[in-house]
Parts: sequence; C-alpha cells; structure tokens
Amino acid sequence: MHSTHLLGVATWLVGLAATTPTNDGHDAFFYKGHDLSSLKMLEDGDSKAVFVDTARNNATRRADEILADGGMNGVRLRLWVDPIPGQYDLSYVLALASRFHRAGQAIYLNYHFSDTWADPQHNNAPAAWPTTLEPLAGTLRAYVNDTLHAFDTAGIPLALVSLGNEIRHGMLWPLGQADVDIEPAAARVANFTGLATLYAAARRGFDDFVSTSSNIDHRQRPAVMLHMDNGWNATLQERWFGALTATGLVTPADWDVLGFSFYPFYGTNATFENLAKTLDWAARSFPGTPLHVVETDWPARCDGEDAPALSEPSIEIGAAGQTAWVRRVEAIVRGVVGGVGRGIWYWEPAWLNNTSLGSACQDAVLFDQDWSQYPRVTGYSRSSVDMFLDSV
Ligand SMILES: *[C@@H]1O[C@H](CO)[C@@H](O)[C@H](O)[C@H]1NC(C)=O
Ligand SMILES: *[C@@H]1O[C@H](CO)[C@@H](O)[C@H](O)[C@H]1NC(C)=O
Ligand SMILES: *[C@@H]1O[C@H](CO)[C@@H](O)[C@H](O)[C@H]1NC(C)=O
Ligand SMILES: *[C@@H]1O[C@H](CO)[C@@H](O)[C@H](O)[C@H]1NC(C)=O
Ligand SMILES: *[C@@H]1O[C@H](CO)[C@@H](O)[C@H](O)[C@H]1NC(C)=O
Ligand SMILES: *[C@@H]1O[C@H](CO)[C@@H](O)[C@H](O)[C@H]1NC(C)=O
Ligand SMILES: *[C@@H]1O[C@H](CO)[C@@H](O)[C@H](O)[C@H]1NC(C)=O
Repeated sequence: MHSTHLLGVATWLVGLAATTPTNDGHDAFFYKGHDLSSLKMLEDGDSKAVFVDTARNNATRRADEILADGGMNGVRLRLWVDPIPGQYDLSYVLALASRFHRAGQAIYLNYHFSDTWADPQHNNAPAAWPTTLEPLAGTLRAYVNDTLHAFDTAGIPLALVSLGNEIRHGMLWPLGQADVDIEPAAARVANFTGLATLYAAARRGFDDFVSTSSNIDHRQRPAVMLHMDNGWNATLQERWFGALTATGLVTPADWDVLGFSFYPFYGTNATFENLAKTLDWAARSFPGTPLHVVETDWPARCDGEDAPALSEPSIEIGAAGQTAWVRRVEAIVRGVVGGVGRGIWYWEPAWLNNTSLGSACQDAVLFDQDWSQYPRVTGYSRSSVDMFLDSV
C-alpha cells in the first residue's frame, strides 16, 4: 500500500531535521535513495516520459513524487565533465539537483571525472584535460572546487560527494589506472601512485571549496565518499585499500564515508553473506566510518538465453523480489558492527528506455513500461516503488 501524502510530508520534515545542522557523514541519518540521473533526459526527450501511480487510480505524477511516497529520502546524480550536451553535464545536473533539493531530498553528487561512463571497464580522463600527472592533478583539483561552488552558488546543499565512480581499476585513465589483479602484461597498473595522486588532488579540491564557501562551515560540509564496486569481495577490498594507502599519498582521513556497489547479476559470489563480510571488514578496518551500499538493483524480468545466474536464487524475480532484495540489503547495512551502516541507494529505478540497467536481465526498473504511444512512454508504478517503506 502507498503512504498518504501526509506521510510523505512527515518523511520530508524528518529528513530535514536529521540532516541539519551536522552532515559530515557521522550523523545517524539513514539514507534510502534512488539514482535518478537519467530522469530529466527521459522526461524532456522524444519519449516525453509520463509516470502513473497505480496505487492512486493511475494518477499521473512525477516519478520522484511516487518514489518519495515510497520512502525515498535522497537522490544520487552522476556528473560528467564535457559530454554530448544534455547528458549529465553540469547544467543538466544542477537543474535536477535543484528540483530534488526543493522537494526535500538529500543530494548525493557522483563525480565520474570523465566525459562519459566511468566504471571498472571504462574510466577515461576527460579528452581536453592534461596528459601528464601533475598538471592533470591540478586541473582535477580546480574542477572539484569550481563544480562544488556551482552547486553552492545555486543554493543546493550536497549531503554526499563521491570522488570517482567505482574506482576499483582506478580513474582518469591512463594515468590513474590501478588494479590489484595483475596480468603479467599489465604490470604498470600495479602502481597506485597515479591514482593516489589524483584522488588526493580531488580531495584537496573539495577542501578548497569548503574553505572558500561562504555558505558552509566545517560542521555542515558534505561527506566525501570513496566508491568501490564488488562490495561482496572482502579480499579485493582489503588488497585494494592496502595498495592505495601504501602509497603514503592517501590516508583514511581522505574519505569520510565508503560506498560499495552490490549487484546480483555479475557473479554468483555476490551473496548477502559476502556483502556482510565486506562491510564487517570495512567497519573493523576503518572504525567509525559510515558505510553505504550506493548501487544495487534486482530484476523484475530475467529470462531467455542470455539470462545470468543471480547470486541469491531464493529471491524471486519480479516486483516482490525487488522489494525483498532491497530489504535484505538494508538489513545487512543497518546491522553492521558499530552501527556505521548509513544508507542504500537503488540504481536508476525509472529508466524506462534502458531497463536492463547494464545487466543481461531485461528489466530491473520499478515501473512497467507502455510503449503503445511510441515514441512516448508511460511508466506504471510497480509495488516495489514502496521498497523503502516500513523496512526492517
Ligand atoms: C531514452 O530517451 C532519451 C530521451 O528521448 C534519449 O536521449 C536516450 O537516448 C534514450 N535511451 C535509450 C537507451 O534509448
Ligand atoms: C491503470 O492502468 C492499467 C493499464 O492501463 C489498467 O490495467 C488498470 O486497470 C488501471 N487501474 C485503474 C485503477 O484504473
Ligand atoms: C609509479 O608511478 C609514478 C607516477 O606515474 C612514477 O613516478 C613512479 O616512477 C612509478 N613507480 C614505479 C616503481 O614504476
Ligand atoms: C576555489 O574556488 C573559489 C571560488 O571560485 C576561489 O575563490 C578559490 O580561489 C579557489 N581555490 C583554489 C585553491 O583555487
Ligand atoms: C576477489 O578479489 C580478489 C582480489 O582482487 C580476486 O583475486 C578474486 O578472484 C575475487 N573473487 C572472485 C570470486 O571473483
Ligand atoms: C565463490 O565462493 C566459493 C566459496 O564460497 C568458491 O568455492 C568459489 O570458487 C567462488 N567462485 C568464484 C568464481 O571464485
Ligand atoms: C543504458 O545503461 C547502460 C548501463 O549503464 C549504459 O551503458 C548505456 O550507455 C545506457 N544507454 C544510454 C543510451 O544511455
């Protein structure tokens, strides 16, 4: 069942109270967020997406209103440096962030430090940026300071800022490439100096912003996140963080919060048990550091020849399974030793024209799609839009 509008307002007020005045990542606020980066493109483009609230007699509503009634209290947005105009560039992200901030959502800015996707398979430095390490670090530092000032000037407070996206293989390739699983042919990437130099520069750019913002004092600054994927592999995390900090250029003081991606499609070892082990490792290795699962999703449809084996086959495929998966992940995050688990973020629940969300399953979004008016598309809310209500 859907919450009433009043409950939505109450959730918003509670969110405000809990995020002010201290929001350095050490408060006890628990984020239940969605990544809605693509939403504006979908609404404004040829598809002119319309969303329908099936729990309210098919009323037409914005996707984020439906998700807010379902317990969402934060929105994650990716930022690219110099993409094709309109694709996650600064003005696109400012427009979305402003809208979601006004709607009472906490904003989590997800830097990719690239002109396009950044993840373990792609992580190219922006094409126009310097191609030697120290100049590149200087450009990155200034970019972080400048872009954070742009949000500040627009009156948009940021709750969380991740420096890079899924940086298991480093970022800003080739100079920032790094990897703990070394093929003999790629020994260069065993060297974490480039990555550490660049991460530290991004962090200095953050500190430059904090020290020059007239709207922020140190008690209210955003929390800095380092974001890794394969949140189920504690061996990887241990070796990777060991290699990064062994450079002496980055210490645990250079992040406030750790974020992990956790998907069920890319390997059957992505089990709840292994997620819990990784979070436990992080909580014991970096005491007091808040932990989030910052990307996750579960399929509503996953069949056919290419269907991958899912890591938790006991969870059913479908809307009920989407809710069950998220509630189990949330319970694991909340249960981390020391109470440092602070959030869970579902990836792109409203991307009606890209429903596989990068997986080999057909559909992991939270809305059924109706293309009968092509190119227009209508999204009908599934029961899973309420995944963050009454959890655990
Ligand atoms: C989805 O629609 C938007 C807006 O029409 C368009 O820019 C984008 O390329 C589409 N994405 C896919 C995967 O078709
Ligand atoms: C909502 O729309 C769907 C799809 O058109 C339809 O099957 C359903 O009966 C509608 N529900 C209501 C309450 O009108
Ligand atoms: C590691 O990379 C840094 C930065 O590119 C370089 O200065 C250093 O010489 C490299 N170290 C080794 C052992 O190759
Ligand atoms: C950071 O940006 C602010 C605002 O543009 C500027 O005043 C300041 O000089 C910058 N800091 C550095 C170190 O460049
Ligand atoms: C976990 O990570 C380690 C270190 O990167 C790697 O060697 C191992 O293959 C990974 N485990 C799985 C199941 O992929
Ligand atoms: C996954 O973990 C199990 C032990 O829990 C191990 O036997 C298996 O080899 C692992 N799978 C991979 C791909 O490494
Ligand atoms: C759809 O999502 C996938 C997965 O992240 C991404 O690689 C792809 O570029 C997206 N398609 C469009 C048109 O944005």
